[in-house]
Amino acid sequence: MKFFIDTANIAEIREGCNMGMVDGVTTNPSLISKEGRKFEDLVKEICDIVDGPVSAEVIRTDTDGMIQEARDLAGLHENIVVKIPMTIDGMKAVRNLTEEGIKTNVTLVFSPLQALMAAKAGATYVSPFVGRLDDISHEGMLLVEQIVEIYSNYAFDTEVIVASVRNPLHILESALMGADIATIPFNVLTKLASHPLTDKGLKAFLDDWKKTQS
Ligand code: G3P
Repeated sequence: MKFFIDTANIAEIREGCNMGMVDGVTTNPSLISKEGRKFEDLVKEICDIVDGPVSAEVIRTDTDGMIQEARDLAGLHENIVVKIPMTIDGMKAVRNLTEEGIKTNVTLVFSPLQALMAAKAGATYVSPFVGRLDDISHEGMLLVEQIVEIYSNYAFDTEVIVASVRNPLHILESALMGADIATIPFNVLTKLASHPLTDKGLKAFLDDWKKTQS
């Protein structure tokens, strides 16, 4: 299972890389806006840090505009994957970009049929947003389960990125379901490592060790 980090913050990305937990990065316009930097400069810096796919999202919503923006983004660095919204225009853009050899990540996916369309259009990745479904009392992980099953039934190459992750259980369930990737916010990534019994056990070992030194 691959771990992507869902942030545009350089310090978080570097720390995640130091932990050996960053196989790729996903950004979106909201994450980029938090950093207060020029989009292209920030994305290029992320690509220089991370040896893996880096998703950067288009802003235009018409097919021609998305294709043009995607070409510009893909020209910035070989690691770039272009995030395209799950719309009819988006599907047309994905089909064209796939033919051109530009990698795509279809974003804002909230139903299994949207994911099926994204795969048929030739998307490299699909991003179901589980947390935002949970927020409106729909079971986000059920969506992932259905997408994984559909893709397996028909041997689609499109990889599933579990996105809008809010807690460690999203990662556990993703792994059990066989999702290819989870894109994880930094605060959730650090939570995966922590357990109170680890902290308690380490403290007891160190306290006992001190006794041997007196
Ligand atoms: O990057 C897309 C996705 O992960 C956004 O998450 O928390 O804004 O729903 P969130």
